[in-house]
Amino acid sequence: METNRNSFIGVFDSGIGGLTLLPALQHLLPQEKFLYVSDDAHAPYGLKSREEILERCNIIVQALIDKGCKVIVVACNTATTNAIETLRTTYSIPFIGIEPAIKPAALNSKTKVVGVLATQGTLSSALFTQTSAAYTQDVLVVEQVGNGLVEAIETGPLDDPKLATLVGSYIKPMLEQNIDALVLGCTHYPFLLPLLKKILPNNIQIIDSAEAVAKQTHKILKENQLLCLTQETGSIQYFSSAKNSSLLGFIPKEAEVRPLTSDPA
Ligand code: DGL
Repeated sequence: METNRNSFIGVFDSGIGGLTLLPALQHLLPQEKFLYVSDDAHAPYGLKSREEILERCNIIVQALIDKGCKVIVVACNTATTNAIETLRTTYSIPFIGIEPAIKPAALNSKTKVVGVLATQGTLSSALFTQTSAAYTQDVLVVEQVGNGLVEAIETGPLDDPKLATLVGSYIKPMLEQNIDALVLGCTHYPFLLPLLKKILPNNIQIIDSAEAVAKQTHKILKENQLLCLTQETGSIQYFSSAKNSSLLGFIPKEAEVRPLTSDPA
């Protein structure tokens, strides 16, 4: 399919996590048309091998390109840190990824201790290790794998006391080490913000990368002369690899979720 400035921006994640990037993207790019893919039939990605993650990314990216996407936002830290370099060399359209924001966290830290909550796949990736080494020489990074969090967020409810206990157990060692910033290194985790705000003392900054990703997407579109030219308000269409998508509880009631293989409306 031929792409042009007025065609779609693809956004994908293993599930509902990438939804946490959409408000920032729509705010900066109000005229753009987004196609959101939730790969919830294959979630979570966090415990998959790099090869498995790459295989899922290739299937989704090809589907988004077939639907006419002009750029793709990899709205998943696990997919970005494991696959974005390969995606960039395989496909000719631009990719924008998301990584845990340890650079701003480390630069602003007064206690020189920051916490990072992310998936096993992200924390063990070469890209995360490189970024962490480059920006945190004088800072202690307390890494914590958020085992079970993506699954709990996908199935809900978000006010389940068991989820609160699990999150609390991950945060405790960070508090004991005196962090003053908590980096949310998974796009699902902003769904935990109400819970985190209850658990964390006020002086601890919670950092996610949504705004940075939106700014970078705007920059890439501009540089590549791909910013949409219409004056009409943009839109979001939703696709899923699962029959009963978890997206349904999180998107506007009137929105439809279509099979990944179907065409945009
Ligand atoms: N939202 C994905 C991320 O940012 C979740 C990964 C998973 O499915 O485990 O890493």
